[in-house]
Amino acid sequence: KQYEYILTSKPAEGVALITLNRPKALNALSSPLFAELNEAVAEFDEDHSVGAIVLTGSERAFAAGADIKEMKDKTLNEVYQNRFLEDWGKITSLRKPIIAAVSGYALGGGCELALMCDIILASPTATFGQPEINIGVIPGGGGTQRLARVIGKSRTMELTLTGRTFSAAEAESWGMVSRVVGEGDGKVVEEAVAMAKTIASKGRLAVQAGKEAVNAAYEQTLREGLNTERKLFHMLFATHDQKEGMSAFAEKRKPVWKNA
Ligand code: HXC
Repeated sequence: KQYEYILTSKPAEGVALITLNRPKALNALSSPLFAELNEAVAEFDEDHSVGAIVLTGSERAFAAGADIKEMKDKTLNEVYQNRFLEDWGKITSLRKPIIAAVSGYALGGGCELALMCDIILASPTATFGQPEINIGVIPGGGGTQRLARVIGKSRTMELTLTGRTFSAAEAESWGMVSRVVGEGDGKVVEEAVAMAKTIASKGRLAVQAGKEAVNAAYEQTLREGLNTERKLFHMLFATHDQKEGMSAFAEKRKPVWKNA
């Protein structure tokens, strides 16, 4: 499908790639861009040929934030009554894993968008930040909550209140990104696509359950999360893929998944 602000493709078996494509505005996340992004992820989430999704921007910018020019004249009535930004959360309810491949600026809503993804890979050029304080507001797309859970209170407080940016190396050392993927144009996207391909080659039900279980760690108490994990683990014993996976191991052969 043709979109105006994003590009979509299927670069490898089982992998869908979404590229934010509003280069003149450093991929500022306008409402029309977000509507297209939501439509594309929903479509790939339904698409049986897709097992994992990669989301990226350009070398210069993953996304420089929500569109400040679009926001600047909005009134309280407008943002509250229309639940401004509420539809951003849709990305977090996908069944399939989504990997953010971040190069360049990931600021404000751009950083928050990356944090909504399941895995973040960063190029050494990635620059993260929650600079909203510099324009008279605070993060509104989950930044204060997701960052605090991932990198802790003190750092989140510092970043939110000073607005300073942080590097890929810092993000890696704090555990916010799983890996900094070194050197060369497009390397981080290549690596994310390879990771997505690996994930897509696994049984889909187990992948979906694994994602659900890890997310429970961020949304539930430890007791509830352990319960969720165990229930999902038990549930998989009703699948073909569990019998197949364990039999294949015992028979020293490769499993053939049926996603059933
Ligand atoms: C609208 C933006 C934009 C944004 C950049 N542009 N960021 N437009 N919204 N968030 C536009 C610029 O206006 C400019 O347009 C063009 O992109 C290129 O940007 P420059 O500033 O000229 O580039 P540069 O000097 O290289 O600086 C890059 C930058 C800077 C450091 C990333 O653009 C910047 O500080 N951007 C804003 C970052 C920010 O505050 N983000 C948080 C937004 S608030 P023209 O037409 O002049 O060429 C937010 C709230 C989220 O995200 C809350 C809910 C999710």
